[in-house]
Amino acid sequence: MITVTMLDALRAQVRGWRQSGQRIAFVPTMGNLHAGHYSLIALARQRADRVVASVFVNPTQFGPNEDFDRYPRTPEADAAGLDAAGCDVLWLPSVETMYPLGVSAAVKVSVPGVTETLDGAHRPGHFDGVATVVARLFNQVLPDVAILGRKDYQQLAVIRHMVRDLAFPIEILGADTKREADGLAMSSRNQYLSEDERARAPLIHQTLLAMRDALRAGRSHADVEREASNALVDAGFVPDYAVIRTPEFAEPEDGETGPRVALIAARLGRTRLIDNLEFVLD
Ligand code: PAJ
Repeated sequence: MITVTMLDALRAQVRGWRQSGQRIAFVPTMGNLHAGHYSLIALARQRADRVVASVFVNPTQFGPNEDFDRYPRTPEADAAGLDAAGCDVLWLPSVETMYPLGVSAAVKVSVPGVTETLDGAHRPGHFDGVATVVARLFNQVLPDVAILGRKDYQQLAVIRHMVRDLAFPIEILGADTKREADGLAMSSRNQYLSEDERARAPLIHQTLLAMRDALRAGRSHADVEREASNALVDAGFVPDYAVIRTPEFAEPEDGETGPRVALIAARLGRTRLIDNLEFVLD
């Protein structure tokens, strides 16, 4: 694997591969990589001849009171892990490369329709920051296919909308969520959890499963969402939301069938955890 920090060098590398007819996959990340990220690299390897991964902790997607400064940065371990996972190029842009006009003068991408609700409502500006940086990364790397995790369900929807609306010639592939043995979705933020919080954290996944099962048993959406919230509060979480939505984020009617997603965001101590569960109601 080679590590590239200059845009010209990245473009030359990718251009060479493309000229020899190779297909290029891209996995954007913020580093502090875990088995969830590496499963995206493995999927990228299956879908393409060459794999580019980026590590960039993007300042524009963090709110003023969020964890940008303390976000875990582990560059050596990330590079070693990516190499072992079969990544060909690690793209490590500086803030100046990513935002040549400066962060405050940056051209922004915002994606209406999927960002007004859930994390878009609870983290104002977050998805603008995500779309803004992913648009830049796509133009820098120019991949054929990009792999994103379904763990960040709304983020994946935002990127799909952006790619469609701005006509990026890039296929977007969603990868399944990797979990710890007790069901907790892997996340760089899990390491903020104290031992006691870590022991309670799997309740989020358990609650998602309980929401699905209660709906399948014919319970109303209102009851299912209220009980999920209560279960989280009783265990010391502060939920932002615990809801059932259609894949387009509409609120389904009781008795309707079709694809559904249960989504939870909740704070445990000073850590905000998100997870979701996709299922079909029939
Ligand atoms: P980051 O949180 O580092 O995640 C990078 C990618 O890994 C995302 O597509 C995310 O959905 C995926 N991922 C995280 N945990 C996962 C898990 N347990 N199983 C499967 N996939 C998982 O998401 C971002 O970075 C940023 O917002 C980014 C898209 C890079 C833009 O800055």
